[in-house]
Amino acid sequence: MRKPILAGNWKMNKTAAEAVAFVREIRFALNQVEAADVVVCPPFVALVAVAEALQATKIGVGAQNMHWQENGAYTGEIAPTMLTPYCQYVILGHSERRAYFAETDDGVNRKAKAALKHGLTPIICVGESLEQNEAGETHSFVSGQVRAAFAGIPAEDVARSVVAYEPIWAIGTGKSASAADAGRIIGLTVRGTLAELYGEAAAQQVRIQYGGSVTPENIAEYMAQPDIDGALVGGASLKATFVELVKGAV
Ligand code: PGA
Repeated sequence: MRKPILAGNWKMNKTAAEAVAFVREIRFALNQVEAADVVVCPPFVALVAVAEALQATKIGVGAQNMHWQENGAYTGEIAPTMLTPYCQYVILGHSERRAYFAETDDGVNRKAKAALKHGLTPIICVGESLEQNEAGETHSFVSGQVRAAFAGIPAEDVARSVVAYEPIWAIGTGKSASAADAGRIIGLTVRGTLAELYGEAAAQQVRIQYGGSVTPENIAEYMAQPDIDGALVGGASLKATFVELVKGAV
């Protein structure tokens, strides 16, 4: 049985002070949730303070990106070892990073390997654009992203990874994929590709989230799909009603 995992991707929102005030508001209620792993992913500069505010809880902390190198002349970047004191997770290859910051499949793969090497759980994001979806290219494109992200990652590391399927057209638009469509793509395309790469038993261990306009109102529909193991939540993770969303998932 895969334990559900709900992660809040705060994106470029909340100062460190706002982040701490917010987690203080929601930590008690979130910490009561036993049946799912809950993770918050604040901006880099809030990670230290948020990790401290969540120290006595089971709530996980994740970064929204990182570099694959351990140190060096990479101005503006953050290394895995800088995150490990504060984070257990790192979001990699979010579609906004791919679209606005020229992130490539190869970079996502390097980052995933670096995360696993340093004991961070990568939340690897994949998902097709509206054009690809309408052209019937969802399966081939998303399957290719999964293959590229996991290239060279050994079978024993796969179960420690999380994949987030986020159709780009559903992110921040209020236009969520239907639970049935999301469940089908996550099952056949994402888990199916992992099964081709690593075998069915290994693929069954990987937790796969849906992301894209998930709300407290629609989370239960997604969770009812057997292949959907949680959600990567943007807008709805910024408000205290994130607690309702998490409770609605379990
Ligand atoms: P959204 O974002 O929930 O605001 O659609 C999801 C994401 O980008 O991870």
